[in-house]
Amino acid sequence: MTIYLNGAYMPIEEAKVPVLDRGFIFGDGVYEVIPVYSRRAFRLVEHLKRLQHSLDGIKLKNPHSDNEWAHILNEIIRRNAPDDQYLYLHITRGVAKRDHAFPTPPVPPTVFVLSNPLTTPPAELLQSGISCITVADNRWLRCDIKSIALLPNVLLRQAAVEAGCAEAILIRDDAFLTEGAASNIFVVKNGTLLAPPKDNLMLPGITYDVILELAAANGIPHEVRKVTKMEVLGADELLLTSSTKEVLPVTTLDGKPVGNGKPGAMFSKLHPLYQAFKRDVMRK
Ligand code: PDD
Repeated sequence: MTIYLNGAYMPIEEAKVPVLDRGFIFGDGVYEVIPVYSRRAFRLVEHLKRLQHSLDGIKLKNPHSDNEWAHILNEIIRRNAPDDQYLYLHITRGVAKRDHAFPTPPVPPTVFVLSNPLTTPPAELLQSGISCITVADNRWLRCDIKSIALLPNVLLRQAAVEAGCAEAILIRDDAFLTEGAASNIFVVKNGTLLAPPKDNLMLPGITYDVILELAAANGIPHEVRKVTKMEVLGADELLLTSSTKEVLPVTTLDGKPVGNGKPGAMFSKLHPLYQAFKRDVMRK
């Protein structure tokens, strides 16, 4: 496995980061996860735009232009074996004496890119769906930043795993849906797809955007608005989206069936549309 670290390509075993890296000390950095299909990065422009938003959010200068990023990412794709991969980009504020405030003058950021094989969900999972729990969203107020400081998300996901579930669905203020611990969540009620609005309380998902575009292009009724906890608990269907999971049906919530407990009509429409879109985009 070949990785990129601060200007060099190397086997992962050789990659080393100093212990005073602010990513290690403070979680002071941001990341991206980009799926690669048939050796082409999916929605690269959008992922790089979101990366810029995250960097702006933590006042860290982007170390590379979009062209430089594209070059680095293509090199990593080329140097790793599978045709389908997912890229992990990780940028921290660099190595400095431990002090909460930013180093002055600024130090060079740490830039790390990793590729992993991308295995999309198996057919059995698409047929059975996944189980989730609802949990109070106790994260900070800048969940739009794709921060590497993921301890709240780690604890929320672990709570799901300890309940025998795949994901935690997060409810803010005991009142409304935000997202999953590492995914976006859609609610389906009476044939309408409901999506929480992109704001500071959730990550603006790239897959989320694709799903809403597909709904619009295919005449599927959809609304982007605050979705209440009651609407989550009373949903006909729940859908989970992310770059690595694509779109998955949630068939059990808090130990009870969602709708009739089987993947529903909305999932059956959107999943093939997503697969077709992926193929079309990758052919272009
Ligand atoms: N996570 N919300 C959160 C909190 C996430 O961590 C993710 C993705 C998403 C979905 O965004 P996208 O569709 O752009 O992948 C929403 C990635 C996959 C991860 O951390 O591994």
